[in-house]
Amino acid sequence: MGIAGEIADDWQAALAALVWLGEAGADEAISETALNRYDLAPEPSGPRVAAAPSPDVPVPADDPVGAARASAAAATTLEELRAAIARYPHCDLKKGARNTVFADGNPAARVLLLGEAPGADEDREGRPFVGRAGQLLDRMFATIGLSRTSPDAESALYITNVMPWRPPGNRDPEPAEIAMMLPFVERHIALVDPQVIVVLGNTPLFALTGAKGILRARGTWTQALGKPMLPMTHPAYLLRNPSAKREAWADLLSLQARLR
Ligand code: URA
Repeated sequence: MGIAGEIADDWQAALAALVWLGEAGADEAISETALNRYDLAPEPSGPRVAAAPSPDVPVPADDPVGAARASAAAATTLEELRAAIARYPHCDLKKGARNTVFADGNPAARVLLLGEAPGADEDREGRPFVGRAGQLLDRMFATIGLSRTSPDAESALYITNVMPWRPPGNRDPEPAEIAMMLPFVERHIALVDPQVIVVLGNTPLFALTGAKGILRARGTWTQALGKPMLPMTHPAYLLRNPSAKREAWADLLSLQARLR
C-alpha cells in the first residue's frame, strides 16, 4: 500500500473512532489529559452553584428518596432549593456534570415548563433549553406571546427540568434517578406556584403522573400536583419529526385559550 493508501486508512480509522466515541456519549473534546471529575473541588465562581451549609434535617444515607424529601421540604425559597439540589450527593449523574442546571425564566410566570434533563449545551451554560431544542422552544412559545425573558408575569415562562444534571450521552434518565429527584421537582413547582404546568416529553410526563406515552397523552389537559397540566411533545422530537409541529401548534393554542 502506498502513502496515499495509508493516509486514507488512517483517516477512515480516525473517523470510525470518532463516530464510535460519539455514539458512546463523548460529544466534546476538552483536553488530551483525562479529567477525573471525582477529584475536582467545586469551582469558586461561575454558574456552578456554591454548596450551602447543610440544613438541620436528618438525612438517611441509605435512603436517597427520603434524603431528597427531607432536603427539599427544608427549602423555603428558590435559592435555598437551588443550593439543596447542588448539595444533594446521591445522584451519580452529578459526578459527570459540569453544572447543576436549575431553572431559567421568571418565577412569577403563570406557565411552568418542565423538561427532561440538560443536554451538552445546557450542561456547559448552566441554563435549561439553550441548545437547538431550546431555540425551537423559544420560537414556539413566542407564537402565543410567552417568553422566558418577559418581566411581565402574564407573558412570562419559567423553565426547569426533572433532572438538574446531564445524563451521559443524553440517555434517558433511569426511574431510580427520576424518583430521587422528584421531591425537588415537586418542591420547585410548589415554590413557583404556577397557574399551569406544561410537561415536555416522556420523562416529565412519567415523573408527574407515572404514565408513559407522550404521543398519546399530548394535547389532553390533566391534573398534576393539584394544577392543570398539559402534556406536549418535546421540541427535540419536533426537530426530528417536523410533521408533528402541526399537533404542537394545536397544543399551544389550547394553552393560550386556557390562559385567557
Ligand atoms: N432537553 C430538555 O429536556 N431540557 C433541556 O434543558 C435541554 C434539552
